[in-house]
Amino acid sequence: MPVRTLFVFGTRPEAIKLAPVVLEMKKRPGLQPLVCVTAQHREMLDQVLRLFEIVPDYDLNLMRPNQGLEDILVGVFRDLPPVITKSRPDLLLVQGDTTTSFAAAEAAFCQRIPVGHVEAGLRTFDKYAPFPEEINRRLTSVLADMHFAPTAANRDNLLREGFPAERIFITGNTVIDALLRVAGRPFEFADPLLAKIPGRLMLVTAHRRESFGEPFRDLCRGLAALAERYPADTILYPVHLNPNVQRPVREILDRRPNVRLVEPLDYEPFVHLLKRAYLVLTDSGGIQEEAPGIGVPVLVMRETTERPEGVTAGTVKLVGTSTERIVAEAARLLDDPAAYRAMAQAKNPYGDGHASERICDIIEKKLSLE
Ligand code: UD1
Ligand code: UDP
Repeated sequence: MPVRTLFVFGTRPEAIKLAPVVLEMKKRPGLQPLVCVTAQHREMLDQVLRLFEIVPDYDLNLMRPNQGLEDILVGVFRDLPPVITKSRPDLLLVQGDTTTSFAAAEAAFCQRIPVGHVEAGLRTFDKYAPFPEEINRRLTSVLADMHFAPTAANRDNLLREGFPAERIFITGNTVIDALLRVAGRPFEFADPLLAKIPGRLMLVTAHRRESFGEPFRDLCRGLAALAERYPADTILYPVHLNPNVQRPVREILDRRPNVRLVEPLDYEPFVHLLKRAYLVLTDSGGIQEEAPGIGVPVLVMRETTERPEGVTAGTVKLVGTSTERIVAEAARLLDDPAAYRAMAQAKNPYGDGHASERICDIIEKKLSLE
């Protein structure tokens, strides 16, 4: 009997990071992947499922407009247990730090199903930043039986918290598997607005809950000031669908000649824009991991990060959300070629693109023995 793994995920980044694991597992006769999406995201999840040609076995279809964290928890706790009962997995696999990940791990625990946690051991040690992800990730660690840590530093965090060494595996981050799969393929932009971008491209994404309100507006004002200061260059911002993001972004950044606000992009064009970008301004977790591999400087518009490896490698810099700091740090890179060169180095601390194979090897070896 093949080992049955039930993948549970719900948002765009979880899908990007678990797709390579699902696809690797499908190749192995000893392993049987089953996919349940909570659809905590809908459109942004479906974009990724289409690209990787993954058809979920179960779809909880939970997304509601402007949903609260409790809505997601209640939805997963209500709708996932029957799926677990029906699919009878040997292992339930979750990824990262979303509310879907934590809730699914808890639901598995309630039925005494072992839990595997992909991208385990990242920490800021600040309960409210990122919010609610730091706590989601820690709670998932407590529930997990197998911890797939991307880096040695992530493993060390888990060891310090008392998790047994024999249950922690350093694998690299599966985002690099996804990135290499997509970045290496020839690609033509279908949209002429993406094919031709005037000047230097500043690629922007931002969506963090802990920044909502005035910090997020400050961040937008920083982008507006940058656009004014560098009229020959282009700011391209695929705007996250969360209404708490859409509202201030449209209010502050709409109708500026060199700011392009677009819908969330499919992963493939996004990666190819990342390769073309002069500079990235973001608060995304995944992009902090992808950009160092590509060698594009990243300014992280957050106060803290659970991904210090990119900062140590020199490609990533934490700049917070203040208008003045965002403008000053971006201007330094746009005006000072030496400062730019120092940051534009391709160093990839997150693995070799074979994390999914390692994860499947470990699951196959451990679970077929039990
Ligand atoms: C979630 C995760 C966050 C992750 C982010 C990736 C939690 C608490 N947050 O945050 O860790 O970094 O995803 O993007 O798990 N929406 C749509 N269509 C979509 C997606 C979202 O309309 O495809 C809108 C809906 O109104 C939804 C809202 O965005 O209610 C918020 O989505 P939600 O998943 O709750 O939070 P995110 O901020 O996306
Ligand atoms: N991404 C994408 N389209 C976009 C913006 C981002 O495909 O328009 C990808 C990006 O390359 C990365 C992931 O989405 O792999 C990051 O997702 P997000 O920023 O939503 O979440 P986080 O990583 O912060 O949890």
